[in-house]
Amino acid sequence: MRTIAVMNQKGGVGKTTSSVNLAAALARQGRRVCLLDLDPQGHASLHLGIEAGPDMPSAYDVFTRQTTLDDSRQLVMDNLSLVPSNIDLAATELELAGVAGREFLLRNAMQHWKDQERFDYVIMDCPPSLGVLTINALTAVSEVFIPLQPHFFALQGLSKLFETTALVSRRLNRGLRVSGIMLCLYESGTRLAADVVEDLKHFLVCSDGDSPWAAARIFRSRIRRNIKLAESPGFGQSVIDYAPGSAGALDYLSLADEVLAMELAAADGPAVTSTAMRAAA
Ligand SMILES: Nc1ncnc2c1ncn2[C@@H]1O[C@H](COP(=O)(O)OP(=O)(O)OP(=O)(O)O)[C@@H](O)[C@H]1O
Ligand SMILES: [Mg+2]
Repeated sequence: MRTIAVMNQKGGVGKTTSSVNLAAALARQGRRVCLLDLDPQGHASLHLGIEAGPDMPSAYDVFTRQTTLDDSRQLVMDNLSLVPSNIDLAATELELAGVAGREFLLRNAMQHWKDQERFDYVIMDCPPSLGVLTINALTAVSEVFIPLQPHFFALQGLSKLFETTALVSRRLNRGLRVSGIMLCLYESGTRLAADVVEDLKHFLVCSDGDSPWAAARIFRSRIRRNIKLAESPGFGQSVIDYAPGSAGALDYLSLADEVLAMELAAADGPAVTSTAMRAAA
């Protein structure tokens, strides 16, 4: 079972759009997928047409141990389940302060899925912060995907992400790896996008071999800016269902192919990884 947190503390970089559409694309390819909405904004849930009202079990109830992941998940399309969230989840930050072992709540809740190989993929849509919810995601997963919007400030928050993942990997989860960087809202052909990608490669080359970023790759699939991606949440559908032939759907299907290819041992393919870049330097 691959477990992936989609995180970046920067807002509006494509975390939710990528979590939902990558999850849907993997489900379309026949993988059993569960998407965990860990953002109190509940955007991933709304994107898939689920508004978690007060009577619906949600991620909040899992964190407060009132329910299990299995009892809170819902099937939203073939092969794709969702554990929804709503604004209640915002209370966890305060409610869990001082609770011993609060960083491990999600990992513990997910253990039986790991033991039983319940899903092929569990994908977590993290909120735009580095609080208790994101730390729980990083403690529970083995992989992190980072969406980046290639603009002037894109790399500014990266060192904070670097520190946080390194800290979690040292203290809470030795197996944590940043395995992929997704370039979202990509404006192909612009000088700025190309410059940011070059800076990013430089940043990765400089990460040392013990860091969780040592095997990070920049996915070759670029997620272009595409209006269908912005429209589809309003229809409660992934872009794959809403606009199957659109650039947005094609880009996420192509990303899913790359993610599936990583399942194979020959993960060094043509993708750019920091280890490969160091070897080439
Ligand atoms: N490739 C794209 N083309 C067009 N619009 C996009 C694309 N990716 C994301 N968007 C739109 O940009 C906005 C921000 O995207 P999204 O919600 O995925 O970011 P986020 O990182 O999850 O934000 P937050 O930090 O608030 O959780 C949304 O309105 C979304 O529909
Ligand atoms: Mg979001």
